[in-house]
Amino acid sequence: MAAYLKQLPPQRGVVEITKNSASAKPDSLQTFAGEPEGRRIYEGACMGCHGSGGPATAYAGNLQGHPSVNDTSSLNATWVTLHGVDYWTAEGHVYMPSFAGAYSDAEIASVVRYVEAAFGPGGAKVNGKAVEKARK
Ligand code: HEC
Repeated sequence: MAAYLKQLPPQRGVVEITKNSASAKPDSLQTFAGEPEGRRIYEGACMGCHGSGGPATAYAGNLQGHPSVNDTSSLNATWVTLHGVDYWTAEGHVYMPSFAGAYSDAEIASVVRYVEAAFGPGGAKVNGKAVEKARK
């Protein structure tokens, strides 16, 4: 998994998210009705940083159109949701908590499917088994 991540192009979330969100639908959360469990988790645990689909509200920014969300294999989105993000840039600390201990495999899968459908093209097939693998 780590080897796979190293092959990905660098993902400068803050810059790219802001750029991509210029074409964002104004409030995708209001228009996407699937994955009710993922939505509940998103609203409780993720929305504070990632917002509800409008312009970026926090340093983490909007996930609309983010490369991780557009990748229907969901590998990166699943890994980040499990393990979090923690690094420094010239602008400051880029931090997302790890959710591995907070949610079951099925719950992680459901919030990732939700995020991918609400902010990306949808169609992500990630399930509890894939999350179990990504935990390692
Ligand atoms: C404390 C703030 C915070 C919370 C809470 C948070 N995130 Fe994040 N998240 C971030 C930051 C910061 C980044 C940007 C990382 C970057 O730009 O490299 C990020 C990036 C992401 C990404 C993009 C991954 C990538 O490739 O960079 C996904 C997907 C994501 N978060 C999903 C979630 C989900 C799902 C939840 C809730 C279960 C969540 N986040 C909760 C701060 C947060």
